[in-house]
Parts: sequence; C-alpha cells; structure tokens
Amino acid sequence: MSNYHIKNLEEYFNVYRKSINDPEGFWEEVAEEHFLWRRRWDNVLSWDFSKPEVKWFDGAQLNITENCIDRHLATKADQTAILFEPNNPEAEAEPISYQELHDRVNQMANVLKSKGIQKGDRVCIYLPMIPELAISVLACARIGAVHSVVFAGFSSSALAARINDSECKLVITSDGSYRGSKTIDLKGIVDEALETCKCVENVLVTNRIDSEITMKEGRDEWLQPLLDMASKECKAEIMNAEDPLFILYTSGSTGSPKGMVHTCGGYMVYTAYTFKNVFQYKEGDVYWCTADIGWITGHSYIVYGPLANGATTVMFEGVPSYPDFGRFWEIVEKHKVNQFYTAPTAIRALAKENLDFVDRYDLSSLKVLGTVGEPINEEAWHWYNDNVGKQSCPIVDTWWQTETGGVMISPIPFSTPTIPTFATLPIPGIQPALMDENGKEIKGNQVEGRLCVKFPWPSMARTIWGNHERYRETYFSAYENMYFTGDGARRDAVGYYRITGRVDDVIIVSGHNLGTAPIEDAINEHPAVAESAIVGFPHEIKGNALYGYVTLKETGADRDQENLKKEINQLITEHIGPIAKLDKIQFTVGLPKTRSGKIMRRILRKIAHNDFSNLGDTSTLLNPEVVDSIIESRL
Ligand code: WTA
Repeated sequence: MSNYHIKNLEEYFNVYRKSINDPEGFWEEVAEEHFLWRRRWDNVLSWDFSKPEVKWFDGAQLNITENCIDRHLATKADQTAILFEPNNPEAEAEPISYQELHDRVNQMANVLKSKGIQKGDRVCIYLPMIPELAISVLACARIGAVHSVVFAGFSSSALAARINDSECKLVITSDGSYRGSKTIDLKGIVDEALETCKCVENVLVTNRIDSEITMKEGRDEWLQPLLDMASKECKAEIMNAEDPLFILYTSGSTGSPKGMVHTCGGYMVYTAYTFKNVFQYKEGDVYWCTADIGWITGHSYIVYGPLANGATTVMFEGVPSYPDFGRFWEIVEKHKVNQFYTAPTAIRALAKENLDFVDRYDLSSLKVLGTVGEPINEEAWHWYNDNVGKQSCPIVDTWWQTETGGVMISPIPFSTPTIPTFATLPIPGIQPALMDENGKEIKGNQVEGRLCVKFPWPSMARTIWGNHERYRETYFSAYENMYFTGDGARRDAVGYYRITGRVDDVIIVSGHNLGTAPIEDAINEHPAVAESAIVGFPHEIKGNALYGYVTLKETGADRDQENLKKEINQLITEHIGPIAKLDKIQFTVGLPKTRSGKIMRRILRKIAHNDFSNLGDTSTLLNPEVVDSIIESRL
C-alpha cells in the first residue's frame, strides 16, 4: 500500500484511518518519499489553534521550484510541462518543456534579482493567462520573493489596495490582454493603480497585444530585452519550510480583502499529494484546469500541484465562448486532455447552448472530470456526466478554499462512488466537523451544521498578511479549537458531505467570492446614495447573482432611476471590477434595521429569493414599516 497514491476504496479507508490515528507519521512518510528537501525537518507538526499557530516540517529547508522543475530534468527535460493554448484559436499552441521552463524561470528570476528583489520582498503579478504568468510565479519562488498574483479582471483601485496592503516593490504586467474578441488595457490599469502606490519601484512589462502604452521613465521597462540578456542559471534560494511562499487575496464578509499567506513546505506537500489523488494523474497524461492563476485553483492546480508531480498542465488564455461555445471541447480533442477541471458556472453556461458544440468533438481521451468553486446543481452535474464524460468519467466535486490551499473534501476517482452534488469524503489528513449554533459538535450522520476542521493540515494558510488578529478572529474564534470555514454542510447517511453554501456575507457569483462590504462601500460613494445592502439570489448560470437595495438621499429622489443604476454599476466596476456588478437594483425607502442599527440582511435575502415566509418577528425592528414597502416594490 502506498500512502501517496490511493488506488481503491479500501485503500482510501486504510490510508484515511492511518492519517487520523497518526497524522504526523502519515505526512512524514508522504514528505519523505516524494520530495526534494535540502535539510530534513526537526519536527513534523506543532500547533495551537488558540493563537493560532501551525508549523509543518519546521526546520526543513527546500525550494519548491527544485521540486517543480529541476528534479524532473533528469528524466523529463523534453516532456511538456506547460502547454499554452492562446486565446486566438488560429494561433499555434506553445508547448514549454521542463528544460525550457527551467531556463525561462531562471532568466525571469535573474531579472528580478537585477531589480533588487530579494528573499522576502513582495512582487505583484498582474498578468493574463500567458506563460509569463506561471513563469513569474515560479521565478519569485526561485529567489524566495513572495508573489501576490492579482486576477487581471480586478480594477485599478482593487489592484492598488492589494499592492499597498503587502507593500509590493515590483509589478509584473503586460501591455494588454486578449479576452475573446476584445482586448483590455492592463498597463493603463496598472498606471492608474500606481498613482496611489508609493511602494512600487519597478514595473516590468511583457508585450502581449502590441498596443501603444506609456512607459514611465525610471520605473517601467519592457521585460523581453532584460530576459534575453539574463542567464538561464539561477541558484534556488534555500527556504525554510515555514517561510512565506505567496500571498493571495480573498474577500471577507466584512472589511478589505484578506491577504492569505501560504508557506513553502506544507503547501508543496499537500498540493502535490491532492493533485495526484484527486485527479489520479498518470505519467504522460495531459491535465487541464480552466481556472485563472489569479485564483487559488490556478496556483495549486495549474502551477504547483501538477508541476510537483512532473505533469503536463494546460494553460488556456481565452474564454469558453470564443470563437464559439465549443472551444473547451475543441481544446480537449486537440491536446487529448485526460483530466479536465472547471467551475459549475462554466458548465451551466455551456449546457444552455446547442449540444452540437460538444458532440462535434472527440472527447474519448477524458478520464476524470472535476468541478470547484461553488456547489454544483444536479442538472449541471448530469449534463457534464452525460455529454462530456459520456457516463464513463468519474466527476470529482472538490470542496476547498483559498485559505485551505488544497482540496479538502472530494471523491477519489475510481475509488469513491460519486453522488451528484456531494463532495463526498475528506482527503486523508482532513478531519471535518459539523457544529451547531451553540458551539457544539454535531456527531453522527444525517445531520447539518457549520463546517469546521478539527486538526491542522499541511497547506492551511498561516496568517493574514499584516493582521494575525484578524486571522484568529475570522477563522478560529467562532468555535474553540476549530478552523471555521464559513460554509454550511450536510453529512448524509453514509458520511458523505454535501456543501450547502456560505453561512456568512460572502456571496459566490460565477465561482468568484465577493464580500458585500466593499461593494456597498463603492455604491455609497455615489452622491445620491444614502445607504445600501447587497444580498445574493439564485441565478441560472452564475449560481448566485447580486441584488442591491439602495436608499437614496432626498437630493437623489428625482434622479432618473435607470441612469442611477448605470452609475452605480459603473462605480462598482471602477472599485472592484465588472465581476461584482449588480443584476438587480431596487431603490428602497429605507433598510430594515435592528434597534442597534444593524441591517437585517436575513430579511433582505428572503425577499430577494421571493420567499416571504418566516420573515420573523419584524415588530422588533427599528423600522418595521420598511419591510412591507420593500416587498411591495420588489423586482
Ligand atoms: C465554495 C475556491 C460547494 C465554498 C477553491 C468555499 C464550494 C468557497 C466548492 C471558497 C464545492 C468551493 N462545492 N462549494 N465543490 N468549492 N466552494 O476561496 O463556499 O475561491 O468556502 O476557493 O467556494 O472559494 P475560494
């Protein structure tokens, strides 16, 4: 029996049992057998959730890029590491071998060094899905710089907030990006952001779309000439297992985005382990995750997890609808993709189109299908299973979070029998718990509660950048000695988990986490707006969409409402990005509030769901009369 690679259900249960009875022994074995360490750890695990402090493989030294690149060179120098598929379907795909990846990562690392970037410095990466993105990520890791990738759909002020929060010294970007038939002026967005970022000394710009951009003297430089001059050798910085590897921002239910900090050793071990098992990747397979590297799924399962296993990982620049709705399947056929990992939103959008877009292509290479990011509804699951998997590919519904670093609950394909909408069973090492509202664990099966994790796992985030207290408060204060996920879940009769959705004010729209607070702040900047509240409501394709209740100031009362709606969405686009735009905006006379002045979102949520039952005792509200008025004029 191998701990590292689970091959059937019995093995899963055995490995799981072992991982619970002796977690340290279990992870030590995995770490020992499958990775390159420069120094062995002194201690596998030390932890205290009350502080919270968690250390895995403390004292060990390594560099994750030696594990993702160098050690494969002896046997796989010519194998494709990254298979780049450009936005333009007429353009050639670009296979990047492990040798070439080695050379290009080292060149980029040397360029960063020449700009004064050292171990521990933060580098912001704001790039489209082109090879330079993965290469920049790995180049930072090579020299011990902490990368902070910001999804290139975020607006300039969202970018600026992230750059400033972690005081990035350097930004890597491109002149622009392709998105289907459109182009986006990324450098212009960076320029605008940097007007408020004093910490940035250099901007390196890669040419993607040949557009005219302005370069600020002394700050901005084209990347290619620097790369051309740089050496292809760059010694990997020796990192401690607990040194930070990267920061990735995620929305919270309140306040500014949280810079989740992941560290080198545990993150490497866990993402590699889960990649191998959740996708059952075999030597020579071609694996494709359609996420963007701007999100955790791209970090863990386009870059680090696959490369740590010496896999071939596809990186796609475009969108599923360009040039038509068959693009995903065209790519699967062209590259003979074996494992395909996407979001339920994409599946729902494609399921609405003509089946011919799928049937036109030969999908017989597919072995495993995956989903991530939000609950998958039964209809979408069946469409995926029938039309893409032809009922012969297991679907892994993988539940996890930016904070968890890797997949936490998921079927092991060919081992765990799947049931639509169930993420099924925990990965070895993961100890989920369901909690009730009084802080008690709900034991047994056929129960529902708030999903927590009782025991540390190697890839958990260690802190929020610059705000450890917020980390403790957000994740470790709701329940004693537990990591609280913010999700609700059900455990069925056989112990399978089904994630029921967020139990806080985070709303998942098209698989993207959106906090209500920053959106409300953006709306409230409008001079005619007095206050606002955002809730989610079910949407056929996006899973959830945003419903905004907006109260106008007296001065705004006679403004044209359609114009106001446009202006409000424009403000949201400027402050956050188009992904956070509202689908519905209802102007209200007021917002229902408790006597202490807290907005009763529960009531607003019900109204947005068209559910008027159990609104509760509204007479205790400060302003019960607004509820009826909101119901009367609901959209
Ligand atoms: C939700 C994405 C149901 C969940 C990797 C979680 C899911 C949040 C699933 C994290 C799933 C993710 N089923 N819900 N399979 N996967 N979620 O940080 O609410 O972008 O807390 O990480 O997405 O989103 P994040």
